[in-house]
Amino acid sequence: MYDELQALSANEGATSDHLYAITSKPFFVEQAKAESNGKSDGRLMGGTDVTVLERSGDLLKVRIAGWQQDEVDRVIYALRGQRIFSATVGKKVVDKIERLKTEVDPDTELTWHQVQIDTWVSKENLISEGDQLWAYTKEMYTAACSTCHGLRDPEHFLANQWIGSLKAMKRFISLDKEQYRILQKYLQLNAKDTGGSEAHG
Ligand code: HEC
Repeated sequence: MYDELQALSANEGATSDHLYAITSKPFFVEQAKAESNGKSDGRLMGGTDVTVLERSGDLLKVRIAGWQQDEVDRVIYALRGQRIFSATVGKKVVDKIERLKTEVDPDTELTWHQVQIDTWVSKENLISEGDQLWAYTKEMYTAACSTCHGLRDPEHFLANQWIGSLKAMKRFISLDKEQYRILQKYLQLNAKDTGGSEAHG
């Protein structure tokens, strides 16, 4: 089914203005660096959605939006207070991250910043419908996690708890790194404290 997502991505040609990464992808702050496919400035994580700002041949300028915990400059998370990975950012370009607002998470009293960064990525492995990505992930979840015990409802745990709960099961399953990360993201976005609804993502 992952092949189907890739075929869909190739078919669509990333023409939509709002796209979902079906796998992790390197990004570049400078267009020229993206063109020469040099050392990347960071990685967009699978399951993350981006807004297209500009197009140039096979490259897209996209905005990655999310949240950062104060003093954790190199990770962008999907939601405030939730360790749901959206992107990792190289040391050299952390100053390109724009801060929109700052809030204190009342549950933990930690400070979080709402942020965005504009980056260049290739057109590959992006699709327009999040639903299709999450349908694939749900199928993977059922296949990987219902052989020994009943499928746990993602809502059974908090988003941050799913990191540890999934890790405890890692030795039982044979998902590759990308599949594992997308599964984690799916469980986290549908957790008890993230609305428990697939409308997210
Ligand atoms: C090879 C068998 C096996 C597979 C496959 C498996 N589990 Fe488990 N799971 C167990 C066993 C055994 C336990 C109880 C003992 C423990 O916690 O290690 C457990 C416990 C759990 C728990 C904690 C119990 C609870 O509900 O509080 C969760 C959550 C869980 N599994 C989720 C998953 C997920 C998600 C997957 C797929 C990634 C998965 N399991 C795949 C065997 C399995």
